[in-house]
Amino acid sequence: MLTIELEGRKIKVPEGLTVIEALWDTGHDVKRGIGCLSGLCGACTVAYLEAGAQRVKFGLGCQTVVAEGMNVIMLPYFPSRMARYDMESMTSPLQELADHYPELATCNDCKACNICPEWIDVAGFVKTSREGGYESTAEKVMGCHMCGLCASRCPKSIAPQYVGLYIQRSCARQRPIPPNLAKRLEQMAVLAEDSEFAQVAALNQAELEVYCRKILDS
Ligand code: FES
Repeated sequence: MLTIELEGRKIKVPEGLTVIEALWDTGHDVKRGIGCLSGLCGACTVAYLEAGAQRVKFGLGCQTVVAEGMNVIMLPYFPSRMARYDMESMTSPLQELADHYPELATCNDCKACNICPEWIDVAGFVKTSREGGYESTAEKVMGCHMCGLCASRCPKSIAPQYVGLYIQRSCARQRPIPPNLAKRLEQMAVLAEDSEFAQVAALNQAELEVYCRKILDS
């Protein structure tokens, strides 16, 4: 057993648990902020101080394993602005980046955003995106889980996770579609016209339940 401070209470938990498992093991009925439990959705951010350490670290509660003397809390959801846009209707989305995220120009490179649990160099990609290095930015944000921790630290209210997403989408639109994806899209277009698929898609909730029950019973 390990002794840790969890959500402000000293508590004993079995060794080897993640923070979320430790919360559940000690009777905390935590549901909010937990999604995939696989380190993918970015919903479960935590802040923790290791025994004897001075610097607070950040991580994902489903991936961070508790250690003796750790002091850990789950972080609440942090609101940040995501621009509304219809990329399909834009001819050069990258040229419109400043219209959708004007606050990007106010970044003074303080690097407070460099607290990514996935070790992404957030300040680095914010800088390259301000300087027009869009492909390099798209590459750097590949592992982003959209947890929003970086946005919670920005004194200029920049939401790097959404800026990165915009740039990734814009760059993807400018690249030629890979042949295997083009083929899949064609197959999906045919699927939408498939008569049985179209019939199922048109069912309401009650009809869908009857339809599914019939399949299960057959
Ligand atoms: S629950 Fe999805 S990343 Fe932890």
